[in-house]
Amino acid sequence: MTKESRNTSDLKSDKVKDYSKYFDFSDAKVVSQEEGKTTYRIKGRNIQINSQPDFKEGKRRGKESIEVHYDFGIPQDMKEFGKGRFYQIVTYGCQMNEHDTETIKGMLEQMGYQSTDDRKVADIILLNTCAVRENAEDKVFGELGHLKHLKIEKPSLILGVCGCMSQEEGVVNRIMTKHPFVDLIFGTHNIHRLPVLLKDASFNREMVIEVWSKEGNIIENMPKKREGIKAWVNIMYGCDKFCTYCIVPYTRGKERSRRPEDVIAEVRDLARQGFKEIMLLGQNVNAYGKDFEDIEYRFGDLMADVSKIDIPRVRFTTSHPRDFDDHLIEVLAKKGNLMEHIHLPVQSGSNEILKRMSRKYTRELYLELVGKIKAVMPDVVLTTDIIVGFPGETDEQFEDTLALVREVGYDSAYTFIYSPREGTPAADMKDDIPAEVKKQRLYRLNDTLNEYSKASNDRLKGQTLEVLVEGESKNNEQVLAGRSRTNKLVHFEGPKELIGQFVQVRITETQTFYIKGEWIHETVSLQLGS
Ligand code: 5AD
Ligand code: SF4
Repeated sequence: MTKESRNTSDLKSDKVKDYSKYFDFSDAKVVSQEEGKTTYRIKGRNIQINSQPDFKEGKRRGKESIEVHYDFGIPQDMKEFGKGRFYQIVTYGCQMNEHDTETIKGMLEQMGYQSTDDRKVADIILLNTCAVRENAEDKVFGELGHLKHLKIEKPSLILGVCGCMSQEEGVVNRIMTKHPFVDLIFGTHNIHRLPVLLKDASFNREMVIEVWSKEGNIIENMPKKREGIKAWVNIMYGCDKFCTYCIVPYTRGKERSRRPEDVIAEVRDLARQGFKEIMLLGQNVNAYGKDFEDIEYRFGDLMADVSKIDIPRVRFTTSHPRDFDDHLIEVLAKKGNLMEHIHLPVQSGSNEILKRMSRKYTRELYLELVGKIKAVMPDVVLTTDIIVGFPGETDEQFEDTLALVREVGYDSAYTFIYSPREGTPAADMKDDIPAEVKKQRLYRLNDTLNEYSKASNDRLKGQTLEVLVEGESKNNEQVLAGRSRTNKLVHFEGPKELIGQFVQVRITETQTFYIKGEWIHETVSLQLGS
């Protein structure tokens, strides 16, 4: 390591990297360099860069085979590091992020940290971020503004940013410039490196940045802190679809599937631990197994194997219509512990827009798939994701989306106004729809969806549903809340002991976003006794 302060252009060794092309601080000086780390002095703060996000790298899809590592462990000198210390993690975005947070919590607790709800006592606060839309990013920058005050009061506090935003070149630059009090930035492929990075950030008092962009590995045995009766299980990582509006393929890397034996062992273990429901996770679960070179084993095969495990409920998210094959439909139709709810993002009902989104299916193909699914599962509940105001979307094209919504009759949907994401192809298309028009389209779409949700809920009146009781209702602790097999939110009155149990509920009243019913005691006493 060289100790003297040098200009960035002095970096000669090819084992050390010059990151100065990623930022534009003319006064940046190199303070030290060694293999895998370059430390700069920028505006009075030392910034250790192990690697910077690189969009071009993130986009590249090489032929390298996927390495699976089973040797994760907390380094010896970090095992007691968190003793007597507290952590807080704020999670934004999707279930993949929520699950990553469970992994990060697991690691911190293996280092001795305890969780806290009180920010003032926290020794480390991490923001696990989402990059999918601009408003998610705005929230994070707002939060950093608040955290600055805490950091001033307690300089030993470690503040970290991880998750999808840290994979963006522009975000890392903005943090270096505008939020230099942040101590740690690590990417979605660097989660297993947290103990080592935390050590550097704590002992050296430098901002530490480590974001790998091109990554194809799977780290198997990281700890996970799960709570409650439902558990998430990753079956694959990354996405190769490159829909033109979406940043995920850049922030989450190439598609790579966990080995079936590892997924099955994890689900079996969760069943043994008493979890009642698992959610299999992937950005595009229907592409599961496409990357296996040695075996022919796809998502339908995995679902068939998981259906044989003694866990009461299995769900999965999220699907891409293009890869949803007949074998999978056949397996799902057998039901059992596989729930009759499919989240099938359509994004738009217009062929022209679907083409420009590069969704790789047409409206007709999507409807054909829906037809096939409904033919074998007449009671299936379909939900979806829809974007309005994609560049160039005409009124007519939006009407096509409304017509498709009516034709499918979704039970509910996540709806979004298009948000340009820097570095994606759609961000170069002319975003020419006035904000007010986008809003009006969103309102109309939501009104239509709500009509169908209410009508579908009304059809349940008088029926008796199996409900997994999750807890008290958010707004009324006298009322219990649970989910039906089709993922409908059900409210009913009953004793707290029912939490975590399956009960039968007769539906008496319906709203747009939930249904109410009466607990049928006889059936429950049977279940409680079993
Ligand atoms: N703008 C708006 N919505 C988006 N989504 C993904 N990228 C964008 C974007 N740039 C939505 C899609 C996806 C869901 C997770 O988020 O509908 O299915
Ligand atoms: Fe994004 Fe499309 Fe991949 Fe979904 S399938 S994560 S929308 S690129």
